[in-house]
This record gives sequence, structure tokens and C-alpha cells, in this order.
Amino acid sequence: MMDQTSFGKMPDGELVKQFCLTNSHNVSVEILNLGGIIRRWLIPKDKDKHTDIVLGFDTVDDYLSDDSYLGALIGRYSNRISKGKFNLKGIDYQTDINLGDNCLHGGNNGFNKKVWKSTVLSSGDNPSIMLQLSSPNDDQGFPGTLSVKVIYTLTEQNSLKIEYFATTDQITLYNPTNHSYFNLSGHNSGSVKAHEVQILASYYTPTDKNAIPTGEIAKVDDTPFDLRSMTAISQPLSSDHQQIEYGNGLDHNLCLDSYIPHSKVATYVGKAVAIDTAINLKIYTSMPGMQVFTANHFVNKKGKNNTDYQAQQGVCFETQFYPDTPNQPYFPSATLEKNENFYAITVYEVLF
Ligand code: GAL
Repeated sequence: MMDQTSFGKMPDGELVKQFCLTNSHNVSVEILNLGGIIRRWLIPKDKDKHTDIVLGFDTVDDYLSDDSYLGALIGRYSNRISKGKFNLKGIDYQTDINLGDNCLHGGNNGFNKKVWKSTVLSSGDNPSIMLQLSSPNDDQGFPGTLSVKVIYTLTEQNSLKIEYFATTDQITLYNPTNHSYFNLSGHNSGSVKAHEVQILASYYTPTDKNAIPTGEIAKVDDTPFDLRSMTAISQPLSSDHQQIEYGNGLDHNLCLDSYIPHSKVATYVGKAVAIDTAINLKIYTSMPGMQVFTANHFVNKKGKNNTDYQAQQGVCFETQFYPDTPNQPYFPSATLEKNENFYAITVYEVLF
């Protein structure tokens, strides 16, 4: 089932639409055409009570004025580019600088702040919506006109499938993700520290204190980033490892063992489970990395239904290329060639 309502208006009066995708198990996901934001994700855990497993806001203004990317699609480049500088085929480019000296999540006016064109693809058992955006040449400093398409599908297996497509008329970079903050106990239920996670990653990319990778691809063995068997989130967070200190918690890219360059298949990379609700989230992707971020800087952030979100109230599993890839010769490349067809897929499956 697919339900379409108005969520509000942009400052210039443009309508922001909200699409509610519901399957026959009564799982529903609400998606905005603003930033492709996943605003609500309701799991019918108890007979007459849904658990909303993602953090979000209630107004367009909240989404536009916040800088935490709640639920949003990110572009053109997820995560950091050091000093916003990169070189493609001998040409130097300079992007927006919007976090310290660096570019974060595509710059000041990234894809999360844009109203996307929306088309309902299916309103039946596997409701599906297509969002499209044309990012002009030099948008936030990135070269090439980039045509982007994202298809969200809620399946009968209670999975949300996110497919990313793009083409460019000039060599460029493209590194998309979805920035949902999950709380499998419910968005208004406090910290996720008791959640247990498993991430099949034998390596991670250590950073400097500004979250820029050093270039090393380091083994996770004997570090807080060894999450290969089920581990409570509180465990890495309480470690005195320098990287945890730098990130003020977990805010790191894990190198996914399953990655196969150019694969179009989403393979299992990890899961999270809330002990109290026993809601499980399984993650599958074709992407090489996953930024695991525990909302370390939240302080009384006013979210949905007047909930005050605090540090560690959500955890992001941002499937993506590694940070600062264009400046790191040993990282999988996020370069998109002229007329190449980009495709990536991430699937979040909820078991309850
Ligand atoms: C994450 C990033 C964090 C923080 C957050 C947005 O992806 O790694 O450091 O910037 O986005 O608030």
C-alpha cells in the first residue's frame, strides 16, 4: 500500500510530500521527497503498539536547520573529503568546506536539503517509490552534471531495499548513502548502548582527530572495532582506544569483508538487535565500507513528538565508499566515469 500526504512546504513554497509505504505485515516506512528522508519506520511489535525504529523530526524547518542528516540520502560524497580537494585526470577541484577544514556529506547544500522528483512505481504488495535529482555541473564544487535516481522498495520480507543509480556527463565522484539513525527499542527510548551488533569487517580505516583517514587499512584485531561477533555497543564506547577518543565514540569506517568491486548484489554484512524489544536489523550491501556512528554529539535535540534526543540515542550504519577516497590511492575508488552507469544496493531487513 502507498499513501501520499503533504508534509509541509519549503521556504520558497514548494510542497514537501510524504509517502507511506506499508506491506501486508503492517510494517510501514514514511519517506519524504525532501532529501529522500526516512522519517518513520513502524514495526508492529505489539498488537496495538508500533515501535518507530528511526530518529526524525516533525517539520520541514527542523530538517532544514539541523546538521545531523537524520534519515537522509547523502550526496554527492558521503563522509569527508580532506580540505574539499581532489584531482581527477589532472584537474584539481575544490568543493564546499562545511566542517572544520573539510567537506562533509557533499557540502553546505547537499542532496539531503533538495526536493527530489518523486514517482510511485508500485502501490501493491511491495510498495516502491523512485526519487530523482539532477545535480548541475559544479554543484558544491563537484564536476559534471550528475543524474541520480534512488528507488526505495518495502518488501513482503520486511526489508527496505535502497537502490542507487547515477550517470554523469563528465568524470566525477559519487558516494551515496542513507543516514538513518536506528534505535530498535524505539526512537524515544533512550540510549542504544545495550544494542548488540555484529559487523563482518576485519579491517577499518583509522583517522586523525578530525576524522580524516590516515590512509592505513588496519586490522580490527584487539581493537574496539572488532565487532565480528555479537558485541554490546557499550563495549567499544567504553574503550580508552585513541580512535574512540577522536570520534567521541564510534564514528568510524569499517571495511566490509564481503566487498566485491562492481558487484550489484547486496551481501550480508552485519546486524543489530535490541535486547528489550528483540527487534533485529540485518544489513546487506554491495558497498565496500560502513560508517558506524553513534550520534555522539546529540544534546537535547528536539525530535519527533517532542522527544529530546541525547548522545547515543541512535546508531547509523552508513554503507558507502571509504571516507576521503579520492585522496587515498589504496581505497576502493568512488570515481564515476563519463557515461558509466553507477549502481549500488543496500537492504535493511527487520525481524521482529
Ligand atoms: C556522520 C559523520 C559524523 C557526523 C554525522 C552527522 O556520518 O561520520 O562525524 O558528522 O555524520 O552529524
